[in-house]
Amino acid sequence: MKIKKIKISQKGFKYSIMIGNGIINSTRSQIRKACPEVKKICLVADKNIPVGLRGKLKKQLTNYELHEVILNPSEKLKSFSNVSKLTDKLLSLNFNRTDLIISFGGGVIGDYSAFVASILKRGINLINIPSTLLSQVDAAIGGKTGVNSKFGKNLLGTFYLPKAVIIDVNLIQSLSQREMVTGFAEILKHAIIFDKKFYSWLDKNSFKLLKDRNIKFLKEAIYKSCKIKLFFVNNDFKEKNMRMNLNFGHTFAHAIESANNYSSSIKHGEAVLIGMVMATKLSKILKVTTEKTLNRILNFYDKYHLNYDLKKVLNKKKFSKIIKFMSSDKKNKGRKINFVLLKQIGKTAEPGNYKYSPEFIKRNFNKLI
Ligand SMILES: NC(=O)c1ccc[n+]([C@@H]2O[C@H](COP(=O)([O-])OP(=O)(O)OC[C@H]3O[C@@H](n4cnc5c(N)ncnc54)[C@H](O)[C@@H]3O)[C@@H](O)[C@H]2O)c1
Repeated sequence: MKIKKIKISQKGFKYSIMIGNGIINSTRSQIRKACPEVKKICLVADKNIPVGLRGKLKKQLTNYELHEVILNPSEKLKSFSNVSKLTDKLLSLNFNRTDLIISFGGGVIGDYSAFVASILKRGINLINIPSTLLSQVDAAIGGKTGVNSKFGKNLLGTFYLPKAVIIDVNLIQSLSQREMVTGFAEILKHAIIFDKKFYSWLDKNSFKLLKDRNIKFLKEAIYKSCKIKLFFVNNDFKEKNMRMNLNFGHTFAHAIESANNYSSSIKHGEAVLIGMVMATKLSKILKVTTEKTLNRILNFYDKYHLNYDLKKVLNKKKFSKIIKFMSSDKKNKGRKINFVLLKQIGKTAEPGNYKYSPEFIKRNFNKLI
């Protein structure tokens, strides 16, 4: 099966995203192409990736001095103290800028190892091999790295580009169904905010993605999704305005996750699914979108059994916390809450123009859920 390739050129920096089936088997040649001077490699791998797949990847790395770090990808990993552990290890092994970190895991491993790569000796080579659907369509795309602080999630981070991103669709065959839905939420978001045709395609084909995990359809969906994310990122690398569109549904989602203390009872993508419906309902209340658009989205959710009912996953007592957390979102300027609203499928309203007080959201909250 053919490899789909996206070439990115950003401020004089070039790299490629490859999407294909079984393409971890081309890692050796990708390293030779993207960073030919590498001598040492640190493979930072998610412990839950099937051992056979890690073995396949390691076979590609036999020409190098290889150091393996196998980690449990909990959010706790994304901390400054864990960053120090890895930087200390790499410095003690005398890793240089010309050496390489390979991130082999989902968004947690990706954010953590990319952050380390970006600060070690002011930046060493990084190749990202995302292994969850979410990381293949979102976390590994766009150059954001980050760890958590006691003040909140992803508050410490850098913008740093990898030398290559290798998206092997085969890796996601071993994912749990819940993780599939989590990643699918971001694919759906990309279609809703930017591409009406892609949305219709998803409306027709999503059982092939979610149930069958059909390689051909997954490859297509991941490719389309990456292209959309990159469109926003390339036009607004440092997140000034356009990139804000990618936050559609996320103002609500982050607040839901915070109100739930980031417990795994609500995963990020599950919160995004709920958040996107809340944002669409808000768009309707504000007459930015129509009832027809809202119903189209609700029908999609019903067809594919995607949950948008907040009450099903979060205790009502915690609803007031959602508004409190939204008020302290890092994307707000001032006291008002900044929302990305939807005009129609494939088109958002210009971000930055829709800011509402916590009181307004509180008054309308019951209409949003
Ligand atoms: N940098 C960005 O732009 C960006 C964007 C979105 C999300 N993120 C970050 O990504 C993280 C979430 O990423 P995620 O959803 O990939 O979660 P994750 O990394 O926690 O992975 C989810 C689960 O899947 C398991 N797993 C990974 N690969 C597997 C495989 N091939 N087979 C079986 N199991 C596998 C993991 O062990 C884990 O249990 C969050 O920390 C979030 O902040 C970053």
